[in-house]
Amino acid sequence: MIIKTAKFLKSSSKLSECVKSHLPEFAFIGRSNVGKSSLINMLCNNYKLAKISASPGKTKLINHFVINDNWYLVDLPGYGYAKTSKVQKIEFEKIIIEYCSKRDNLVCLFVLIDSRLPLQQIDAEFLQWCGEKEIPFSIVYTKADKNSKNELRKNIAKIEEKLLLVFSELPNSFITSSEKNIGKDELLNFIGGYIQ
Ligand code: GTP
Ligand code: MG
Repeated sequence: MIIKTAKFLKSSSKLSECVKSHLPEFAFIGRSNVGKSSLINMLCNNYKLAKISASPGKTKLINHFVINDNWYLVDLPGYGYAKTSKVQKIEFEKIIIEYCSKRDNLVCLFVLIDSRLPLQQIDAEFLQWCGEKEIPFSIVYTKADKNSKNELRKNIAKIEEKLLLVFSELPNSFITSSEKNIGKDELLNFIGGYIQ
């Protein structure tokens, strides 16, 4: 899969505002600051496409990007940011739950997990919820540049051990770094398998 064009289309505050389309769609979700927007930019080779911030809670809406005029990438707000007000948290959760469970043209939800941390409770709960709702998802481990290869392997093995307490088999997964362009071809090839 080669990305020739990537254009911002629209920001939506709820599912009903999202573009009505049958084109295949791939969305990125995960804890605030895990690297969703950075990953979209890496895939599209455009470091100004999705807004990135060192402080969590940057992406607050459902952002649609049109790729090659025939499929979509979607940047979603992060979940689980402690400093967000309670009201805003509930708002974000509503947006996320509605979008993930009801978006008909969603082909795969990429759930981003920080490769440096132990599996966080909120990630485990979210992944379990995806499983229960039968939402097609893959795990994307982010920030793989920050640890040595050995530490990375050990940490992911620990996460997988925990995942096997919830899932009968390991979900599909990718290892990525937006900083070092790791995992780009694998992700694009995976997506390409669904695009005509
Ligand atoms: P919200 O929109 O706030 O939910 O965050 P997000 O998940 O979109 O994260 P974002 O892409 O804005 O990145 C958050 C921070 O992590 C920024 O400071 C990025 O530069 C950094 N970051 C993202 N990906 C990587 C990566 O692969 N490696 C390293 N070292 N830093 C990264
Ligand atoms: Mg973001």
